[in-house]
Amino acid sequence: MNLPSLADEAPAEPTGTPSPSDDDPLWWRSATIYQIYPRSFADGSGDGIGDLAGVRRRLGYLKDLGVDAIWFTPWYASPLADGGYDVADYTSIDPRFGTLEEAEALIRDALAVGIRTIVDIVPNHISDQHPWFQAALAAGPGSPERGRFWFHPGKGRDGAGMPTRWESNFSGETWTRTTNADGTPGEWYLHLFTPRQPDLNWNHPDVRRMHEDVLRFWFDRGVGGVRIDSAALLVKDDALPEVPEQPGPGEHPTQDRDELHDIYRDWRAIADSYPGARVLVGELWLPDIDRFAKYLRKDELHTAFNFDFLARPWDAGQLRQSIDATLRAHAPVDAPSTWVLSNHDVTRPVTRYGREDSSFAFAKKRAGTPTDLAVGTRRARAAALLTAALPGALYIYQGDELGLPEVEDLPEELLEDPMHFRSGGVDPGRDGCRVPLPWSGVRPPFGFSPAEAGSEPWLPQPADWARLTVQAQQADPSSMLWLYKQALRIRKTLNRASATAFSWRESAPDVLAFDRGAHFVSVTNLSPHSIELPDSAGILLASSPLENGKLPSDSTAWLTDTATI
Ligand code: GLC
Repeated sequence: MNLPSLADEAPAEPTGTPSPSDDDPLWWRSATIYQIYPRSFADGSGDGIGDLAGVRRRLGYLKDLGVDAIWFTPWYASPLADGGYDVADYTSIDPRFGTLEEAEALIRDALAVGIRTIVDIVPNHISDQHPWFQAALAAGPGSPERGRFWFHPGKGRDGAGMPTRWESNFSGETWTRTTNADGTPGEWYLHLFTPRQPDLNWNHPDVRRMHEDVLRFWFDRGVGGVRIDSAALLVKDDALPEVPEQPGPGEHPTQDRDELHDIYRDWRAIADSYPGARVLVGELWLPDIDRFAKYLRKDELHTAFNFDFLARPWDAGQLRQSIDATLRAHAPVDAPSTWVLSNHDVTRPVTRYGREDSSFAFAKKRAGTPTDLAVGTRRARAAALLTAALPGALYIYQGDELGLPEVEDLPEELLEDPMHFRSGGVDPGRDGCRVPLPWSGVRPPFGFSPAEAGSEPWLPQPADWARLTVQAQQADPSSMLWLYKQALRIRKTLNRASATAFSWRESAPDVLAFDRGAHFVSVTNLSPHSIELPDSAGILLASSPLENGKLPSDSTAWLTDTATI
């Protein structure tokens, strides 16, 4: 197998088939999956909001970048009370993003250039504007319509006490009181996120049937997989107990309940009934990696996001521990690991790694913390090569391939994220990693919208992103984009040759060095000093220039001892 030439820039040419083919049933085990936040990727219509027309126009970019699949965060009709994770209709496209016909065309066009599409399914909750919830409010207590949700009388004589003291994932309360038709205070309903996202009752057959139909709806349209939002939360303990101080396995009333596995077995049967390996990807934030791996048994989900790795600081011991624990937990269920540096919910890597405390916790983003973006960028480059070299699937969040930083000075009046508002402004929220991408030119909107439209992007882009546009980076071999492109090409060849091989090399404690098969070595130097590289090794790619043949601090090098890997 020949190594891809570093200068080889193949143009994007449609070569694929019109529907997911059966040729590569294991595509998902080592795929590179690019996450698109449709509102912020590219605007085709000229209204300052990203859309499907924008994505269709940029498919060549994605092909050229070298991704195997794209995952769309929700594109459905939605009031956007939580960036689209409040779905009002799971089978239509929000008019701001386009039409169902455009989505179908996009799925087809992407397949034609060898890119599969993954859609985001949001089964835990629904928009308060969804007809089911509107009907439940109108129908009143005890009605069958309310049975699809968690309506409950309050505690105390006047029912003014919440049914439980469960805490929302977005801080604050999880119950909101309704008002009866006659104006008197009524029942409460459950929402683990915002009041505009009422939780569905997964004990109800309508809820199960509707989601199975939604899966089939999108599989029928040729999608290669679904990402399952908040996948560990669907089932609740219907006795509504308080959360125990230290819940044992399966004891939490709203998380990781054993009954979930049956739901995912049913979903797997649906996915398996389609040709072309349609996959289920779980969003599972679980502290216990062995419980996490249970969802990946062969008749359940195919893969799940590895948030443990994402949350670790830039520290060799911590990252080594996470890699070991990940590989160990996945092996017995024979599921591929996933490697994820960021997504639309977390701080951009170049910002996070530029801080003294570079760990991540979902509810504790820190704005205004001193940040060295040069250090952060250097580490993010090293981390990009480290993760791309590990065995399993790789996720890239749009804009990370451009090295975009978190935007921390968005004007307060433009912020939209409910995490920010529900924390009373303590949490800066997630808008800063959702700023529209810069494509070209020297001033906003940097080609995000067509120039003639004269519109402003829905969130303002920093003026100094001129140096980070796709156009600027395409011509610069020292750029982040260039690094990603080379890395993804080599990764493809590497995974073809040694899909699962992995073994640590002996190294200093602050160095992560491992072999992937007989002829490929990845070395990441997290120490403050330059280090020697193994003898007689050829450099395939390095995240920073070597210094007298040595690998500098905060850098990764990929090495080979032969012309093939
Ligand atoms: C997931 C999504 C996040 C959303 C939440 C509620 O964590 O990634 O963006 O706010 O679920 O749906």
